[in-house]
Order: sequence, then structure tokens, then C-alpha cells
Amino acid sequence: MKILVTGGAGFIGANFVYYMLEKHPEDDIVCLDALTYAGNLETLEKALKNSKFKFVRGDIADRATVNELFAAEKFDVVVNFAAESHVDRSILNPEIFLVTNVLGTQVLLDAAKEYGAARYHQVSTDEVYGDLPLDRPDLFFTEETPIHTSSPYSASKAAADLLTLAYYRTYNLPVTISRCSNNYGPYHFPEKLIPLMIANALNDKPLPVYGEGKNVRDWLYVTDHCRAIDLIIRGGKVGEVYNIGGHNEKANIDVVKLILKELGKGEELITYVTDRKGHDMRYAIDPTKIHNELGWLPETSFDTGIKQTVKWYLDNRTWWENIISGEYMDYYKKMYEGR
Ligand code: NAD
Ligand code: DAU
Repeated sequence: MKILVTGGAGFIGANFVYYMLEKHPEDDIVCLDALTYAGNLETLEKALKNSKFKFVRGDIADRATVNELFAAEKFDVVVNFAAESHVDRSILNPEIFLVTNVLGTQVLLDAAKEYGAARYHQVSTDEVYGDLPLDRPDLFFTEETPIHTSSPYSASKAAADLLTLAYYRTYNLPVTISRCSNNYGPYHFPEKLIPLMIANALNDKPLPVYGEGKNVRDWLYVTDHCRAIDLIIRGGKVGEVYNIGGHNEKANIDVVKLILKELGKGEELITYVTDRKGHDMRYAIDPTKIHNELGWLPETSFDTGIKQTVKWYLDNRTWWENIISGEYMDYYKKMYEGR
């Protein structure tokens, strides 16, 4: 198979590239990535040495580039990871989220329709379901939960999902969608909670916890997400949505304290800051459908995963230090100074 992976220079896309090169060495992988602030060719260094992998720099919203690539490569499968992915940035500047996440998706859907991919897979998020209250631990997101978004980011992802399903219903395009909970693991960009807290703690900088730190996220080790997508593109039913998550709910403050413990740092680094606008309270996925249909279950426990992740950031200091020494500093000041 020849697989197009968009956004493969980002966190989950890169982990997916490595997962697929190892699991299916017979397949060809082409990565299309615009290398925005979140894309990093250093992350793909090892993949670039593999003859079954090819990197193309380009924007998914650029129709001419996308069409040229589809015409030349004749993809069997398209997996769209490319997106603006950070909720806080979407609150500062929503527009690019609409351009990349909505219009970019439409360009890819058109190309898949025009050039005939056997499967178009849209990588989506549990955030399209909005949030759940803290006092109802019995409630979970199923694939039937209504879409009810909170941030410009989640609204743009929901729009892309609806467009993807519209291309199935209207044009019979063979699509699937996955909606996953919060990922963590290697190559996670240090603007997100877990890598940001690891980097700050290692630099003895304050750890900015939003609000009271009670918000709950359902953490999944990134390789478990990659394995789920691989199962869906091979065995998932066309036109269907699959939720991915591992019943691993943690309050932010507990995650932060665990990271400090792993690093042998003191809790005095924790600083409570002004809450995120429109901050979703709790996410929790019900993964029954993917378990029953495709036999998927998470394989990495949070205890193991967080240890592996902390170790990765200790062993790969140059990777994240290069990031936080660049334009990231301006972002950090804008987002956190005086907060
Ligand atoms: P990321 O921000 O780490 O990476 C995004 C990648 O997309 C980068 O390499 C960037 O250069 C590329 N990109 C951005 N705009 C582009 C464009 N216009 N054209 C081509 N490439 C472009 O994101 P991530 O955390 O790896 O998330 C990947 C996908 O998974 C996203 O669609 C996100 O919505 C979804 N998702 C993420 C999580 C999570 O916890 N991180 C959970 C569920 C779903
Ligand atoms: O649920 C899936 C989503 O998870 C993905 O769709 C998004 O792309 C991904 O970024 C992630 O969104 P979150 O907003 O949940 O992740 P983030 O790491 O930004 O924040 C996790 C929680 O930690 C959230 O409740 C906000 C809080 N937080 C975050 C940061 C960056 C803090 O308290 N302090 C911080 O500095």
C-alpha cells in the first residue's frame, strides 16, 4: 500500500510514521507537512534514512500542491493528521484553525475523490463532544454523543468531521474518522501540558496550572493511538466514527504532581494561573465500539507511559531545548507572562 500521512512532522503523525515503518515494512509512506511551528524535520531524521519513506513539504490547503502530489503518487490510503492542534493558540488566533483544519481537510477530500484513494481517514478528537461534568463519573463520550464544541480549535475539528461524513454520504467517498482522547509520549511539542511541565520542571521554572487544576483529561500513550488508526484503516467500516481512549482519567494537578515526583522536584514549583477561556472540564471516552469491532485495547498503562515519557525528555534534551529557545519564547511570554 502507498499511504499519505499529512502532518507527519508533528507529534502523533511522526509517531504514526515510525509505527507504520516498523509494523508494515512493505508499505510506502509519503509525508506531506507544511513544517509550521509545530512541525520538525529533526523528528523524522531516522525515517528519512528509510527508502520506504518520502517527505514532501507542502500545505494541505494548497490545492495545486495537493493535486500534483495525488496525481503523481496515486495513494491507496490517506491519513490526515495535519492540523493546528493547540486550544490556547486557537483562542488567540482562530483564523488559521479554520484555514488548515476545515479548508485543508476539504482540499484533501476533493483530491481523494478526484484521484481515487481507497480510504480517507480523518484524525479527529474527543473535543468535538464538548465536555462532561466532574460530578457525573458515570458519563462517557460514545460515537452517538452530540457534537457540542467549546473552542475555535474543537469547532474547526468538528467542521472537518462533518465535511468528511458529507463526502461519504454525498459522493460515496470511503471515509473513516477516529476521535481520540489526549495523547502523550515522545516528540510531544512542549506547549502542551505534559511536555511543558517536564521542560519547566527540568529548568526549575514555575509550572503554570490553569484554574484549580481540577480539569480531567483521559490520557492515552501515543503508540496506542497509532495502533488504533492502523486497525481502522485496515479493518474499520467505511462511513463510521471510532472513539479511541483508555479509561485513564486524571485531574491536571495529579498529572503535574506525578511529573514532579518522577523528576525528584518539589511541589513549590506549581503556580496556579488564570484559567483558560471556555475551559472544558472533563473528557472521558467510551472505547467499546473499537474494542468490539477491531479488538483494540490500550497496551501501555499510565504508570509505565509517563515513566517512559519522562525518560525520553531526559534522554532527548536537545530536541526540546532547540524548540523552546526559538520563537516559542515569544509565544510563552504572550501566553503566560503576568497571567
Ligand atoms: P501537532 O501540532 O504536534 O502537529 C501538527 C502537524 O501538522 C505539524 O507537523 C505541522 O507542521 C503540520 N501542519 C499544520 N498545518 C499544516 C498544513 N496547513 N499543511 C500541512 N501540514 C500542516 O499535532 P498533534 O498533536 O500531533 O495532532 C495531530 C492530529 O491529531 C491533529 O489533527 C489533532 O487534532 C489530532 N489529535 C491530537 C490529540 C493530542 O492529544 N495531541 C488527540 C486527539 C486528536
Ligand atoms: O482531547 C484531545 C485534545 O487534547 C487534542 O484534540 C488537542 O489537539 C490536544 O492539544 C489536547 O487538548 P487539551 O487542551 O486537553 O491539551 P493541553 O495539553 O493544552 O491541556 C491539557 C490540560 O492541561 C487542559 O485542561 C489545560 C491544562 N493546562 C495546559 C497547559 C498548556 C494547564 O493547566 N497549564 C498549561 O500550561
